[in-house]
Amino acid sequence: MARDLQKLQKQYNSSLASGGRGMMGGPGRGGQRGHGGGRPKNMKKAIGRILHYLGEYKIHVTAVLFCLVFSTVTSLIGSYMLFPIINRIANVETTEEESGALAVKADEAIGAVRDFLYPFISPMFENDRHADIFIYVFTAIIILISVYLIGVIATYLQQRIMLTVSQGALQKIRQELFEKLQKLPVRYFDTHPTGETMSRFTNDVDTIGTMFDTSLLSIIQGVIQLVGTLIFMITTNIYLTLVTIVFIPIFIKGGSVIAAHSRKYFSAQQSALGAVNGYIEETVSGQKVIKVFNHEDECCEEFNLLSDDLKGKQFKAQFFGGIMGPIMGNTGQISYALTVGLGGVLMVTSGFTPGALTVFAQYARQFSFPINNISQQLTTIFSALAGAERVFAVMDESPEVSDLPQACETPIEGNVVFDDVTFGYVPDKIILKNISLYAHKGQKIAFVGSTGAGKTTVTNLLSRFYDIEQGEIYIDGKPIKEYKRDFLRKNIAMVLQDTHLFTGTVRENIRYGRRDATDEEVEAAAKTASAHSFIMRLENGYDTVLEGDGANLSQGQRQLINIARAALSKAPILVLDEATSSVDTRTERHIEHGMDRLMASRTTFVIAHRLSTVRNSNAIMVLEKGEIIERGTHEQLLEKKGRYYELYTGQRELD
Ligand SMILES: Nc1ncnc2c1ncn2[C@@H]1O[C@H](COP(=O)(O)OP(=O)(O)O)[C@@H](O)[C@H]1O
Ligand SMILES: [Mg+2]
Repeated sequence: MARDLQKLQKQYNSSLASGGRGMMGGPGRGGQRGHGGGRPKNMKKAIGRILHYLGEYKIHVTAVLFCLVFSTVTSLIGSYMLFPIINRIANVETTEEESGALAVKADEAIGAVRDFLYPFISPMFENDRHADIFIYVFTAIIILISVYLIGVIATYLQQRIMLTVSQGALQKIRQELFEKLQKLPVRYFDTHPTGETMSRFTNDVDTIGTMFDTSLLSIIQGVIQLVGTLIFMITTNIYLTLVTIVFIPIFIKGGSVIAAHSRKYFSAQQSALGAVNGYIEETVSGQKVIKVFNHEDECCEEFNLLSDDLKGKQFKAQFFGGIMGPIMGNTGQISYALTVGLGGVLMVTSGFTPGALTVFAQYARQFSFPINNISQQLTTIFSALAGAERVFAVMDESPEVSDLPQACETPIEGNVVFDDVTFGYVPDKIILKNISLYAHKGQKIAFVGSTGAGKTTVTNLLSRFYDIEQGEIYIDGKPIKEYKRDFLRKNIAMVLQDTHLFTGTVRENIRYGRRDATDEEVEAAAKTASAHSFIMRLENGYDTVLEGDGANLSQGQRQLINIARAALSKAPILVLDEATSSVDTRTERHIEHGMDRLMASRTTFVIAHRLSTVRNSNAIMVLEKGEIIERGTHEQLLEKKGRYYELYTGQRELD
């Protein structure tokens, strides 16, 4: 049983999370975000590059820092003002030798307020002492409210301004990443699973956002608080400060022990969660197959196995995560109690005043807070930097090679020549071997051959999805490298083997073939592809919205829309890769007329499984394991009684 679980976990976790966290590990997975992202490899570089995005917001950032310093320092000073106030209430003198110059200054400031208020308030009280105390309490309240208000306003401003900065920077990163994605070669997408690319946009950009929004400010604020509190503590009483500081290493040590534990459990939880998510994703997308083969019960069993495991790990992770706060809090209480107790002793033995003890106790209590906070935020910052590194890695991927300086846009007629082309997707694995062929303007060339023979690869090379290193492909006598890539692709209309429809109306989807086509042209193209009649039967005709890659259409209908797209294009070269493989024979015959018209004036490459559709080609190439093993017209090939003859007469099946 245990081995089964391990196997499942390995399968589903790695299938999703290769090279990072998968798509399912999207944002909003609660408190685990900080734990999943790892550490940056080159911190300095990542920081430098991230800061670069904040560069254009120098004024904003300065304003934010100002607000931050202002609100933090104000609140520290506000607390300090209680020092002389409490002393006054306790009827203790605040003197320089006992309480320090700062306390005396504060006392003088309060005294000035008192002197100002006294004439107004004293008539209300019979007892002078009562009037005095009332004034001090009143002043204390005013000070606290002002500090609070200033703090609120400064925090508001700082959040507002920082949001402008962070959202702006984030938008820039997101847009740059997306633009980069559009420029990456097809090869990139071969080697990077969709989930991985998605997670750059979701998890990684999201964590960077959290860093900008909260972590950076929290850390700066924490440091100011820490230093400020320490200064005020030292000015209040150096011995008590030492006692408080003695506890700091215990705090840090304890914190890091618990953090290490919880990190361990969190990452175990993370991978268990990844496996559960991966399993769910696969069962949802494969639900039909599961039903066909009656695998429901097995699925439930396997899922329960994964789910039980997740439960256990989640329990531990949440437990350790949960006790961290209380443990640190209670340690803080002990240190607090000790400090206050010692302060009490000092009050009796030396001239420590009640005001000093009050503010000191308050500072001592606040002291541990920024330490915890800083360490928490550092974790987020580390994983944000690691995420940023992954984002930057995508940004640094080499784009499709740029056009040659002499690349041109001379009008293309459509004479295509493959001259001894040899190609492999990966080094050392040759897929196409010594392919040579020509297609004159307007000719129709067919490729037949079993799955994996290399038919699609031939067309991939023509449109420069991949660049060749051996041999040359010429169009109108010029190597295809010497055309601008965009221009080249504009001159080749393709119906890809893998159809893809975008979210949008049928009309928009067809118009993808040529942006400036009129509605009439769109409908004419649909008629050419025999798509018109089924489109008219859709709920809203051409305005029917297609979602999720045209999930509401049949595979054949999707192909017809793809053909209509290509039909709209005026490109002189046409590539049809199994364009009608899912269309029934009757519809296929129906399309034939339209297709003939479509192909009439263009150089066409047809890849077809059904040999009946390639009979009238000018030349048929039989591909086998990347080599052209036979070529000729339909009649010539039949006469030859070779592979094509076997295929055509059904002696051999296309496998
Ligand atoms: N993107 C790719 N990366 C690596 N190998 C690929 C890629 N696409 C296809 N291949 C391999 O190239 C061979 C030919 O594929 P393809 O041209 O698609 O065949 P066909 O279209 O004739 O069925 C196959 O063995 C396939 O595994
Ligand atoms: Mg293919």
